[in-house]
Amino acid sequence: MKIMPKPACPETLCPETIWPITIWPETICVVGLGYIGLPTSALLARNGYRVMGADLTRDVVDSINLGRLHFEEPGLDVILRDAVDSGNLDAATTPRPVDIFIIAVPTPISKDRQPDLRAVYKAAEAIFAIAAPDALIILESTSPVGTTEQLAQHLGNIRPDLIQDGQPLIDFAYAPERVIPGKIVMEITTNDRVVGGITPQATARAAKFYRSWTNGNVYESDARTAEMVKLTENSSRDVGIAFANELSIICDKIGVDVWELIRLANHHPRVNILNPGPGVGGHCIAVDPWFIVAAAPDEANLIRQARLVNDAKPAHVIRETLIAAAAIQHARVACLGLAFKANVDDLRESPAIDIALALHSAQQVGQLILCDPLVRHMPADFADAVGVIWEADPVRAVEQADVVILLVDHDRFRVIQQDALQGKIIIDTRGFWRKQCAPAPILR
Ligand SMILES: NC(=O)c1ccc[n+]([C@@H]2O[C@H](COP(=O)([O-])OP(=O)(O)OC[C@H]3O[C@@H](n4cnc5c(N)ncnc54)[C@H](O)[C@@H]3O)[C@@H](O)[C@H]2O)c1
Repeated sequence: MKIMPKPACPETLCPETIWPITIWPETICVVGLGYIGLPTSALLARNGYRVMGADLTRDVVDSINLGRLHFEEPGLDVILRDAVDSGNLDAATTPRPVDIFIIAVPTPISKDRQPDLRAVYKAAEAIFAIAAPDALIILESTSPVGTTEQLAQHLGNIRPDLIQDGQPLIDFAYAPERVIPGKIVMEITTNDRVVGGITPQATARAAKFYRSWTNGNVYESDARTAEMVKLTENSSRDVGIAFANELSIICDKIGVDVWELIRLANHHPRVNILNPGPGVGGHCIAVDPWFIVAAAPDEANLIRQARLVNDAKPAHVIRETLIAAAAIQHARVACLGLAFKANVDDLRESPAIDIALALHSAQQVGQLILCDPLVRHMPADFADAVGVIWEADPVRAVEQADVVILLVDHDRFRVIQQDALQGKIIIDTRGFWRKQCAPAPILR
């Protein structure tokens, strides 16, 4: 628990709560209340800001106003409930005029892998309609280089009264979010940040704002560099994972255990190979490198190739599984984990879903058993699927299977005992059992 260092007004806002809260004079509006916007809103409220959240989705707004989370994130439920109960946080479907606006809406890619900024522009236009001169708009959505500058230029189309001598009267800054789902509550306040405005004044204002409620270092730059920093971070991860994934496919071909290989290679003092997996999912690492490729298609060769390698990994897992299943009549195949990464319920761009869908339509699979203890229901992709069982209990999922594919290394799969794997074909795409157990069961 943190006492704010430089309160403008040291008065206690919520004596009935346990928070040592300082009231900050600036009011905040966070537009987009998903995995990023909601924790940001709740933690700002907890740190003494008066926050309103705006989200287009009515159900999201209603559940937040009841103090209820609409997705899984450890530790956030209590903070949200307290934030709403304290009166520091409320939500609505449209933004209200405030001092500082934060945009945290999705930035996906289109089918032809171009950045889709429609949500950012829609959010910005809703803000422009109500913003006063001297407002600060911070874009947190992962965005192509130049987006923050383009938003500032777009202001003149909507509010010419907010342009003076060709310059916006509003400050614009970019501040990418670096949190990892599953640890958002901790990382949102402790991670270092990069902040870049379209002017030095905007940079300084945004940096001061983040320093007021976060503990990590806040590094000041310009908007274009800050945008590229975020894309570079995720591309770096993607390239590293692609190397590991390519190694895993090579190792399957030449009969080398990739986990042993990586473990030994990483003993080199300057080598740090990442872990392979079933592919790369989520809305960040699988998406953001394409923003760089779209901006520099002739130059971004390695970055594009890494994306293609990672996108091709699910097909390899499917092939391996079908070879294993073909050896068994009416093979029962259990997929353990459907989320795009460990210990989250997020199914967006999940390679595990693609793998399970392909297995469902393959004739070598007699029955498909889907199990993800963090996902509440059978995903909509399988709503009408025949021959697919949803099994919430990992132990029972394994019991029923001839072939077990570990697709996500959720901690909750630790309940599965080694004995339960005996006699089954195991395809461990995450090295989950390989890393935990010695000797390992039958593993790939
Ligand atoms: N989730 C992560 O781990 C993570 C990490 C770093 C960066 N980011 C980036 O942060 C941004 C937001 O991601 P997210 O995971 O929070 O998305 P999300 O899909 O979880 O939430 C976005 C929310 O925005 C709402 N929304 C969409 N358009 C809107 C509009 N015009 N006005 C108001 N609300 C609108 C949606 O209803 C949704 O509730 C993306 O650019 C993403 O790449 C995400």
